[in-house]
Amino acid sequence: MERGMLKHRSLLWGILWVSCCACLAGCRGAETVRIVRIGHNQSTNHPTHIALTAFQELINERLGDRYVVEVYPNELLGSQTDMVQLTQTGAIDFCVASNAILETFSKDYEIFNLPYLFASTASYHHIMDDPEVTGPIFGSTKKAGFTAVTWLDAGTRNFYTIDRPIESPADLKGLKIRVQQSPTNIEMMRLLGGSATPMGFGDVYTALQSGIIDGAENNEMALTDNGHGDVCRYYSYDMHQMVPDILIGNTAFMEELSEEERALFEEGFRLINQVEREEWTMAVAEAKARAAEEQGVHFLYPDQRPFVEACRPLHDKVLEKNAALLPIYEKIQAYNVRYPSED
Ligand code: GCU
Repeated sequence: MERGMLKHRSLLWGILWVSCCACLAGCRGAETVRIVRIGHNQSTNHPTHIALTAFQELINERLGDRYVVEVYPNELLGSQTDMVQLTQTGAIDFCVASNAILETFSKDYEIFNLPYLFASTASYHHIMDDPEVTGPIFGSTKKAGFTAVTWLDAGTRNFYTIDRPIESPADLKGLKIRVQQSPTNIEMMRLLGGSATPMGFGDVYTALQSGIIDGAENNEMALTDNGHGDVCRYYSYDMHQMVPDILIGNTAFMEELSEEERALFEEGFRLINQVEREEWTMAVAEAKARAAEEQGVHFLYPDQRPFVEACRPLHDKVLEKNAALLPIYEKIQAYNVRYPSED
């Protein structure tokens, strides 16, 4: 508890420090230079950071007399939940947040957190690229202070554990599994029979190492980039979710942009999506190879059907609570028919 408070306090000092530097930098140069701050929780090797750096270069090159973009990786500005709140109030301008945690800001985001929602990667990509599907969801928090401007691929989430191989949902029984801080994920774990332990991403490594949790669930990059594969021996491809990451921006900041500036920022958002997706495929293949060869992680390929069956009630539950999602859900199903499972 005390440690948590200390962490929180140093975080606040960090933000204050960043704000002072940004202000000084902004005041020192031409009067009108505005620092644009973007926060995320990944390392500087990660596709997210590489893509945001491409955006930074574009804006600094084309609008550098008015805007200077600064990218803060590694939770330097706090956990994703902290960063969403900072973006909401305008203390920072943009951040990358997992779709999972956004559902606590708008229920509409629940839809992309549903397990086994997308039939294939192709279907997932087409759906996320369709503004008719994403538009109503991305705009749902506009009045609350932030708007989603693009999505980033975060691959497929699978279970990984310190020492118990997960071959079926029954193997999750009695295990404490870290999930993202989202009611949908907690319910998913309940349906699968494990014990959900919600926490921020930055706390997972220590929780695994100290045995507070028995495992977690994520894409392959968490094994290498975040070191989870140093502690966990088994990674099981149950493929329960494809949860996108979402770049959100402060609504007031974006509304104040001129038409010409807005067009350039939009170009930048498209660039982020494109660069991140290109980098993603390579990064995942590399992570998997490194985890197997250097960390000794065993990759398992269980029958997915019992996992799918266990999670099925969650779709109806979410749709019953939020009927406005039904037309979007139907559009998603139409894509799933066009781009079925690759197996
Ligand atoms: C992935 C995702 C992050 C998220 C993390 C998590 O790494 O890209 O946005 O924070 O999972 O499990 O919390």
